[in-house]
Amino acid sequence: MPGRILIAYASRTNATAQHAGAIAGSLRGLGREIDIVDLRKSGKTDLRDYDSIVVGSGVRFGRWYGPAKKLLKSKALAGKKIAIFVACGMLADDPKKSGEAVKNYIDFFAEKYGVKAISTRAFVGFMPDGKSIKLGSASGSRPVDTARSEVWGRELAEVL
Ligand SMILES: Cc1cc2nc3c(=O)[nH]c(=O)nc-3n(C[C@H](O)[C@H](O)[C@H](O)COP(=O)(O)O)c2cc1C
Repeated sequence: MPGRILIAYASRTNATAQHAGAIAGSLRGLGREIDIVDLRKSGKTDLRDYDSIVVGSGVRFGRWYGPAKKLLKSKALAGKKIAIFVACGMLADDPKKSGEAVKNYIDFFAEKYGVKAISTRAFVGFMPDGKSIKLGSASGSRPVDTARSEVWGRELAEVL
């Protein structure tokens, strides 16, 4: 019987949060037990209860958000099945470039912190324009397209 999955994400303008919700919805739809945690709001989460962890972060200036980076670096991930996603700008929108987003925003950090992920994806978040960069907020509460994260959630059910 496949174990419980934790989806732990950090989001500032809600795109990563929406993708996390879509992934959770797909996995639950396939009968998997899921907990979902917003790392910017939660206290310390005990990872011992989980066989598999899906880590998600938004990207700003090529970097992860602090709480997600902290989790990725955590020794508590050792021995677990890990999947990683990011929500980012333009790169993820273009299928030819989304590999580049995975390389720059996921593989780079996974390698740096010695994490071997079973599966990785970059999803589209909110496109920063000059104004939103200045304000540090790109979205408000607009919806993002979660079609790809829903599909990935179903794929994850096969491997986590
Ligand atoms: C200040 C700022 C910097 C950003 N830098 C990048 C970047 O370096 N690369 C990228 O692909 N997207 C970048 N983005 C786009 C964000 O990744 C995108 O808005 C995403 O939705 C953020 O995730 P969140 O909504 O969960 O916070 C940036 C956005 C902002 C507001």
